[in-house]
Parts: sequence; structure tokens; C-alpha cells
Amino acid sequence: MTKILCERPNLFRLTHICNRNVERKKQPWVPAGVTWTEDFNTVLNSEADIIIELIGGLTPAENFVRGALKAGKSVVTANKQLIARHGPELLQLAAENNCQLEFGASVAGGIPVLPALRAGLSGDSLHEIAGILNGTCNYILSRIETARIPFSEALEEAQARGYAEADASEDLDGGDARAKLSILALAGLKVRVAPIDVRARTIRTIDAVDFDYATELGCTIRQISRADLKGDTLFADVGPSLVPASSPFGRVQRNLNLVMTSGEYGGDNAFLGAGAGGDPTAVAVVSDLMFVAENLSQGPRPPRTWQLASPTVSCDFETPWYLRFWVKDQPGIIASLAAILSDHHLNIDSVLQKPDCDKNALPFVITLEPCRDTQLHPALEKMAALNFCVKPCLSLPILR
Ligand SMILES: NC(=O)c1ccc[n+]([C@@H]2O[C@H](COP(=O)([O-])OP(=O)(O)OC[C@H]3O[C@@H](n4cnc5c(N)ncnc54)[C@H](OP(=O)(O)O)[C@@H]3O)[C@@H](O)[C@H]2O)c1
Repeated sequence: MTKILCERPNLFRLTHICNRNVERKKQPWVPAGVTWTEDFNTVLNSEADIIIELIGGLTPAENFVRGALKAGKSVVTANKQLIARHGPELLQLAAENNCQLEFGASVAGGIPVLPALRAGLSGDSLHEIAGILNGTCNYILSRIETARIPFSEALEEAQARGYAEADASEDLDGGDARAKLSILALAGLKVRVAPIDVRARTIRTIDAVDFDYATELGCTIRQISRADLKGDTLFADVGPSLVPASSPFGRVQRNLNLVMTSGEYGGDNAFLGAGAGGDPTAVAVVSDLMFVAENLSQGPRPPRTWQLASPTVSCDFETPWYLRFWVKDQPGIIASLAAILSDHHLNIDSVLQKPDCDKNALPFVITLEPCRDTQLHPALEKMAALNFCVKPCLSLPILR
């Protein structure tokens, strides 16, 4: 990012670089006039119009961004956690101080989806956003899909190739994607939703055999983040889901990201590309910078205001379900499961069982006709107590 700014001095004048222990950060290609500092107040008290925050995390980034906005300086940030948790208040602070806050790099790095929500789609009334927002999960799932390797092997491979961190919990368990979904919902659906209120399901439970069964159903498995605004309720969920293999989601391979929007007037749009990486993210940051600079060059204007709704957040989607059981084979298994499903008014759509499996740990699948999560959940609890289940049942929504 700094390199782009230094190589294209006609765009902007870089005045300060602020970093802890700054001495070790110095680069010969940075122009001599740039001030290197460890003290953020030096930047705050300078003539700079725009501050770029790229330190990540909440502390001290939040204080830096608040300080900049209060001082009337516009801010460009790539900080997903900061915007997911404090975006609405920070946007308000920017409006009160007549400056701008842009965060285009905070979701799907190199894909200009947030600028599209800000500009090209702002004339529509969006009601749904869904995406593959985590490249690590997509890499792992698409590797299990293509190589039929265990989850643990796909994770190790992702770590060896630099697609997953040593502790990848935030990615695997959905924390990263739900923060991104909160930001997309803020920018596209104009709602406040705290990441913690969005249910996140892990991908650690996905097995190579699930891809065999998904294939039989014409599907594959991806970590899907979705937010669907219906009246005063935002239905939101992050986690592994079955998607048709031939759908845009089903075709996303390796660590790419895809975001799809649905609008009342314009219908559906899809945005595909590199979700992370230094260079794509740098382009997103510089593009935000150009947008802010262009606005500033047009002189004082009324601040951009955000009318945000605060819907109830629910994960109770109505959807068909995929249930995968690992059982110790014995007569009457299907009858026992079917009785519980029937007691809860749940209709079976299909039963799938691969031949020649280990009778002590036999994977088989039941798919259900559409029902709500709250309807399914009590049935799953009863099934978990059955003595032939050797592992907890895996339940995945089937998105058509
Ligand atoms: N890289 C990507 O692909 C990507 C994609 C999308 C969004 N982002 C976002 O972009 C931001 C930066 O990510 P990155 O990958 O470039 O991170 P990074 O490599 O860790 O760089 C962060 C920089 O900020 C400095 N820093 C951290 N805490 C500081 C503090 N308290 N005071 C002063 N300086 C501090 C770090 O210095 P030290 O060297 O001392 O640690 C480092 O130079 C994050 O918000 C991240 O989520 C990154």
C-alpha cells in the first residue's frame, strides 16, 4: 500500500508513517520528506487530511480512528473487527464531524463489493446478501471435495501453503465470516447487527464422506454466510451448507470469495475475486483513498448520513436439511429415526447409504423437506441419545 502511494505521487502526498518501533520499518524507497513516527498524536496534529488505519485489532485502532474523526480527518481502514463491532457509531461520528469513513478493504479484500453497495447498488433496495467470505474455509472445503482427504489433512495443507494461520479457529468456526457478514449487512441492508448475534457453525465437522453424499444430491459443501432481511427480522447464519454443484457458490474453488446480492428492483448480482492478500487489499485501500480525496476536492458538502434499522436477528431459516449419522449398524435404525422425525412433524425427503461401509461406524444420510431450525433442533437432541449413534448427527442446511 505504502509502495503504491510512493510510486504514484501524483495521486496523493504521503506525509507520515506511524508504527510502533518504527526504526525497523524504514524503507529506502519512501520519499525523504515523509515523517516516520511512533506517536499517533504527531499525525493527529498534522495537516494531513486523511488517515489510513492498517494496524488491525480493536485497541488502539479504535482510539486512533475516533481521534482522527473527532479531529475532522477522514479515515480509510481495512479493519474488519473494528467496523463489524463499532461501524455504526464511527459512521455517525464521521457524519457529525463532517468527514468520511471508508472501509472497502475490510470485507472480501480485493473484490470491490463495498464500493458497489455504496454506489452502483445504492439505488436498489437490497433484501439479501450471501457470500463465501472466508478464503481459508473455501480452500479447505474445496480441497476435501477434490481430493477426498480428511479435514485435518486439508487444514495442514492450507497452513503449509499460507492460506490458514497456525490457530485458524476464527476462520474455521465462522468468527471471521460473521464479522464480514455484519459489515455487508450494515453497508447493503442498512442494519446494525453485532457479529456475536449471528450464529456461526464450524466446518471442522465436515468429512470427506459428506462430499460423496452431497454429490449424490447434485450438491457440494461451502461455508456460506447469509443475511436475509424480512420485515423487522434479519435471518442470518454462517456455516457449512449444501449448495448445488452447478451454482455460482458451488463453482467457487480454492481461496476465492464470492458475494451475491438480491435487490427488490435490480435482482441478483455476483462479485467474485481474491478475498485477501496484500496487493488486492492495498488496491482496495487506495481506491477508498481516491474516493475520499475526490469528495474532499469538491469542497464542503453535507455529511453522508446513515439511517440504520435494528432488526431482531434470528437463525431460524426455513430450509431443507441434510442430516448425516454415524451409526453402529443394527436392525431398526431407520425406523427409530423416522419415529422421532415424525413425532416432530418433520418430513423425510430421501435416505442415502453407501454400500460396503464399516458396520461399526456406518455413515448414512437423511434429507428433510423444508422446516425451521427450531423445529429440527428438539428432534436432533432426541436422536443424540440413541445408543446406535457413534457420533453426533451433522445437520447442514441445503440451499437451493
Ligand atoms: N493482509 C490481508 O490480506 C488483509 C485483507 C483484508 C484486510 N486486512 C486488514 O488490514 C489490516 C492490516 O493487516 P496486515 O495483514 O497488513 O497486518 P500486519 O502485517 O500485522 O501489519 C500491521 C502493521 O501495524 C503495526 N501495528 C500493529 N499494532 C500497532 C500499534 N498498536 N501501534 C502501532 N503500530 C501497530 C504492525 O507493527 P509490528 O510489525 O510491530 O507488528 C504492522 O506494521 C488489518 O485490519 C487486517 O484485518 C488485511
